[in-house]
Amino acid sequence: MANSALRGSAIIYHSRHQLVGVRSPSSDSDTFLKSLSFPSPLPNFSLKPLQMKRITPVVRAMEVDISLSPRVNSVKPSKTVAISDQATALVQAGVPVIRLAAGEPDFDTPTVIAEAGMNAIREGYTRYTPNAGTLELRSAICDKLKEENGISYTPDQILVSNGAKQSVLQAVLAVCSPGDEVIIPGPFYVSYPEMARLADATPVILPTHISEDFLLDPKLLESKLSDKSRLLIICNPSNPTGSVYPRKLLEQIAQVVAKHPRLLVLSDEIYEHIIYAPATHTSFASLPGMWERTLTVNGFSKTFAMTGWRLGYLAGPKHFVVACGKIQSQATSGASSISQKAAVAALGMGYAGGVAVATMVKAFKERRDYLVQTFGELEGGAFYIFLDFSSYYGTEAEGFGMIKDSESLCRYLLDKGQVAVVPGDAFGDDTCIRISYAASLSTIQAAADSIKNALLYLRRAVPV
Ligand SMILES: Cc1ncc(COP(=O)(O)O)c(C=O)c1O
Repeated sequence: MANSALRGSAIIYHSRHQLVGVRSPSSDSDTFLKSLSFPSPLPNFSLKPLQMKRITPVVRAMEVDISLSPRVNSVKPSKTVAISDQATALVQAGVPVIRLAAGEPDFDTPTVIAEAGMNAIREGYTRYTPNAGTLELRSAICDKLKEENGISYTPDQILVSNGAKQSVLQAVLAVCSPGDEVIIPGPFYVSYPEMARLADATPVILPTHISEDFLLDPKLLESKLSDKSRLLIICNPSNPTGSVYPRKLLEQIAQVVAKHPRLLVLSDEIYEHIIYAPATHTSFASLPGMWERTLTVNGFSKTFAMTGWRLGYLAGPKHFVVACGKIQSQATSGASSISQKAAVAALGMGYAGGVAVATMVKAFKERRDYLVQTFGELEGGAFYIFLDFSSYYGTEAEGFGMIKDSESLCRYLLDKGQVAVVPGDAFGDDTCIRISYAASLSTIQAAADSIKNALLYLRRAVPV
């Protein structure tokens, strides 16, 4: 069988002991090289300056099997990515699109964190770290979880990963068996159901309603649980709705969970500090009897404006954390050494990120208040509002056609209003759209004006 190996600028085609052909990739025709050295598959093989006739490399056009794993085929493409791509294409074409689709703070990473990262590089702290993360960072995470969340962990109960997304995926892969059910309140963070599918588990969506602040009804949960239920995922505060679970409601959910010995809870708390009074955050693992069955996920992307640093973590009973670490050790190994040093600095900024984070949260609140005044919404957290725009479905605009659903509405808002927002359908609720207010107040104001203006052109379709 023919192999190819890259050496310098030459591509060398060889079979086990027989030179087949050589050509320079930089040349426009097949120029043959005259002197060569070979890698190990050709032991004791030395080559004198060589005159060769043109030999056609043994790479023949052959039919390639392009089929994909059924696992990939079961995963849906992301609609958030689709709308972002469309917005990017418009921007590249010179259209001044206001982008309120992204799930990332518009702030720079606080200087003290960035400095710590730069110092790590300067000091040569650029090597592999332990798979689970540095002891320094895991100890700092334990201190944070104790002080801010009232939950006790030891460093061997923490796994640092390349983003909270990886933490969630590994947890789902580690605890779910084929056929298990992953219970997900909807609207949901887009990746949860797809991660369940990647684990050959079945996502079971429990709808929540705007009239109940998009919070899970414990009675509905109770009615849907069975022996197949393995994991309940709670996103608190929620992406996409911004809802925050009151402690009382979490206690009621915990009472239901406690009746099902097989059921674990993954509590995604990545927005815990982006929260607006009077809402307060409760960690699910801090509720009586829940520590043993809760996998707490958190990360640095949102609170500390560190999306590009790719750092998240999982905290839980050692048995589960070790299992997740096993997956990580064969997939990515430990997270970036530089980011881990930066994260230690982030956790050193004071309770809930100190003044720097409080300043960002204050700005988020100001923007949120503006949007709430403009469109009406609920109190909550994160940097999203999830608005019911279904009253516009069934309308149409000249030159665009019918608004049928959240996706066509978002396409219309992009087309006519030049504002990129995400269809609720991506999160499992087609009545709504998600607006991310991770942009300056003046940008939000301009976007709100554009949206309102675009909506003015919509007319109810006349039945024919
Ligand atoms: C609810 C939720 N969990 C996890 C993540 C992933 O965050 P990270 O950047 O740490 O991977 C996000 C990012 O949008 C999110 O919204």
